[in-house]
Amino acid sequence: MKLNIALLAGDGIGPEVIDQAVKVCNAVATKFDHTINWTPALTGAAAIDAVGEPYPDETHAICEAADAVLFGAIGHPRFDNDPSAKVRPEQGLLKMRQKLGLFANVRPTFTFPSLIDKSPLKQERIEGTDLIFLRELTGGIYFGKRGREDNGNTAYDTCTYTRAEVQRLAKKGFEMAMKRSKKLCCVDKANVLESSRLWRETVQAMESDYPEVKVSYEFVDAVAMRLVQWPNSYDVLITENLFGDILTDEASVISGSMGLMPSASLGTKTSLYEPIHGSYPQAAGKDIANPLATVLSAAMLFEDLDLKEEAEVIRSAVNTSLAKGIVTEDLADGGKAYKTSEVGDWLAACI
Ligand code: IPM
Ligand code: MN
Repeated sequence: MKLNIALLAGDGIGPEVIDQAVKVCNAVATKFDHTINWTPALTGAAAIDAVGEPYPDETHAICEAADAVLFGAIGHPRFDNDPSAKVRPEQGLLKMRQKLGLFANVRPTFTFPSLIDKSPLKQERIEGTDLIFLRELTGGIYFGKRGREDNGNTAYDTCTYTRAEVQRLAKKGFEMAMKRSKKLCCVDKANVLESSRLWRETVQAMESDYPEVKVSYEFVDAVAMRLVQWPNSYDVLITENLFGDILTDEASVISGSMGLMPSASLGTKTSLYEPIHGSYPQAAGKDIANPLATVLSAAMLFEDLDLKEEAEVIRSAVNTSLAKGIVTEDLADGGKAYKTSEVGDWLAACI
């Protein structure tokens, strides 16, 4: 198979972790006789520096033309403490999500048996956790009307959803639940918010199309609590943009390291794959960041292109590296800490 993949390394540790994922994908391509054509493109602070814009048109054209996008990280501390900055790297991410129509953000949380003691949560609570958040990514308060009034002394952001937006996200949720344990949780705040009531009403109306799926409706505050108490009671969870942003960060600590969790953003055409961690500027250029989340994102990419064996080979190499202790310093636990590039080389050789 011939694959065209757009490569958006981005900022901070992005380029380093992306390099490892490329090594791994190229090893998979050799093993299975695929040809991967990588097209690098600029995003984030790197793009602002080069062309003054965090998601340039040229980058968008490359992404649109690709079969998939592999993305590193975005963000630079130089902008974080400057509320007056006119262009920010994160705007590039939001523009990219909107222009590529990446409406469904798939964020799995699972545990690795060899790392179960890395989690801050008790082992008996998290064992067997294997859940997936489907976060709506192109609507809600992130993209609603916002502004200032009263000479700048009053500010507002609005959360707007259409029934169609909820339906297309929920449809993915039902389909995913059908392939898994047929359990779906709709996370909302329907006791207070009108937009949440639209979510609940829309999902309820879809239940009869999927009679085998058992749907629960839970308030976001209660989910925040139960997620760390009994994470293994959840399977597929669907939610709106901001709730999903917050809950998926919370969920990522279950596995023990943010450096492990991959994600996919499914689009109307091209989909995008990225680690859930950020640009981790303190580690940039040091060759110490954990590349596994990006490598596992590449596995999701293959899986979605229906190359299941390829995905499995990557996951199995990752599991072997963890079991053998070929890990970066965040997981080394007093043992030998391998460099980012060494972990990538090891995985590619293993494949
Ligand atoms: C994420 C990030 C982004 C978000 C930021 C960087 C805009 O936190 O992908 O979860 O809030 O969606
Ligand atoms: Mn986030």
